[in-house]
Amino acid sequence: MKSLFLTGFMGSGKTTIGKQLAEKLSLPVIDTDEFIENQLNKTIREIFETEGEKKFREYEKHFLKLVPTENTIVTTGGGIILAEENRAWMREKGYVIYLHCEPDEIIRRLKDDQTRPLLDGDKENNIRTIFSQRLPLYNEADLKIDTMNKNPDEIVEEIEQLIKTLE
Ligand code: S3P
Repeated sequence: MKSLFLTGFMGSGKTTIGKQLAEKLSLPVIDTDEFIENQLNKTIREIFETEGEKKFREYEKHFLKLVPTENTIVTTGGGIILAEENRAWMREKGYVIYLHCEPDEIIRRLKDDQTRPLLDGDKENNIRTIFSQRLPLYNEADLKIDTMNKNPDEIVEEIEQLIKTLE
């Protein structure tokens, strides 16, 4: 099977769902942010602070291409869809699954989070602005899952059913 790329806004549950889905399907899971952090031996925040977002986006593009494109669950950073090149790559090499979560819920979940440099400052406003800019790009996915008011088990089950309709 082609790899599954889970996309979605920061805090939409990609990492949690990705781990559970991988376990259920007995597949390995790779997180692009974790991959970048391990390769560069720096946290995402450190990369943003010392090298800037532009450089981070270059790393993201580079390391995305090194992720296995078969039999792997790939959880991605929320901004991976910004580059047309990344969207095209993921769609060509695998299946893109967008986990949709409403901004109000994201705001609740990330209230105390300090790990996302893009949300520094007026977090609520930043979430709403970035979310609306990105929504059309997330919507280019092969599959869209509405995660609102569902627990991780239900979301994983839904993905499992939907991926049967692919290929
Ligand atoms: C980003 C999302 C983060 C991380 C970086 C930028 C974004 O990943 O890649 O802080 O642009 O949405 P998560 O979606 O895992 O929080």
